[in-house]
Amino acid sequence: MRYKIPLTKPVITKDMIDAAINALNNEKLVMGESVYKFEEDFAKYIGVKYAISTNSGTSALLLVAEAYNLKTGDEVIAPSATFISTINGAAKQGAKPVFTEIALKTYTIDVQDLKRRISNKTRMIIPVHLYGYPAEMDEIMEIAEERGIIVVEDAAQAHGAQYRGRKTGSLGHTAIFSFYPTKNMTTAGDGGMIVTNDDEIAEKVRKLRDVGRKGRYSHDLIGYTMRLNTVNAAVGRIQLKHLEEWNHRRREIARTYDKILSQLEEVKTPPKPDSNHLPVYHLYVIRVPRQHRGPLGAWLEKNGVEALVHYPIPVHLQPAYKYLGYKGGDLLVTEEWAKTILSIPMYPELTTDQSRYVAELIIEFYSKRLYQDKEIKRKGALWEKKLT
Ligand SMILES: Cc1ncc(COP(=O)(O)O)c(C=O)c1O
Repeated sequence: MRYKIPLTKPVITKDMIDAAINALNNEKLVMGESVYKFEEDFAKYIGVKYAISTNSGTSALLLVAEAYNLKTGDEVIAPSATFISTINGAAKQGAKPVFTEIALKTYTIDVQDLKRRISNKTRMIIPVHLYGYPAEMDEIMEIAEERGIIVVEDAAQAHGAQYRGRKTGSLGHTAIFSFYPTKNMTTAGDGGMIVTNDDEIAEKVRKLRDVGRKGRYSHDLIGYTMRLNTVNAAVGRIQLKHLEEWNHRRREIARTYDKILSQLEEVKTPPKPDSNHLPVYHLYVIRVPRQHRGPLGAWLEKNGVEALVHYPIPVHLQPAYKYLGYKGGDLLVTEEWAKTILSIPMYPELTTDQSRYVAELIIEFYSKRLYQDKEIKRKGALWEKKLT
């Protein structure tokens, strides 16, 4: 289905197309000059020593888990309210995922719950800056450093976000980003980045992503082909130049939504920027009573507006992690989150009129009590079904 207003839309401008063509014509297609330049630009932007590009955020997480030598018997703590990739790298290394609740106020790790779940086997914590809202990094780092635990930020959704004036990605020991097309910046296809100040980790992931290469045909690690292609890096470099302006626009759109939607008692708007948190609204996620969500999704769809749920199944209840033995009711806050969240359109090219239109549709849904309408309820049930 083509929506009048999609949920998200990457910006692809002529300078990006030109950069791609230029790279195709003039550079090595793999590990060309643009790859190194993109890494250099990205490291500088985040404020870290090293940036190592990969072919996806998932690959970045796999490589980081391996570089830190996670192994069977280790425990790795992450929120369950995230995209499944957050914990996949650790799990693939044989470490045991331990899931925490999120604080509904910020959608990021609940620090008190995190403390309760730490054991003497905890090797790593992976905070997620979900929807582009920075996690409580000072508290997390304090807890981790007291106990010698590694912190890897999952900043896949938080390019350019700031916590106490510092960019997400520069706050933990290592961090990863994703450039998947829906993200705040993309490489026009899959892509990822690992950032760190740690010399050893940088060296290891740089080799692992390139078949463990030491020299041209000498390999001192058993590695993978997980490099970012040159053409994608060339586009990424231009995207990075636009990122600040796009993030600014996302915050403007969020303010328009906040202003209109805060009139509604039934709708909870997302956490706002404050002196410690500068979010980048990768997604604009509202919460509504669970029985309203399907009908509201269907109502928006009927009016040409795409809405989705990020994410309908918390990771602790994903079939892939069944072996861990979690069951429904184990993480009550997260399970409630999964049933009540709704992402509405958010992308830099969304106009103010369009965002007002979306918000007014939600106002209309409530003023006319459309959640009681039989047909909309029926469509809502179907809409919910399609989510998974
Ligand atoms: C929080 C989070 N972590 C990890 C990833 C994985 O990134 P990728 O899709 O580039 O593999 C994503 C994005 O999809 C994500 O949103």
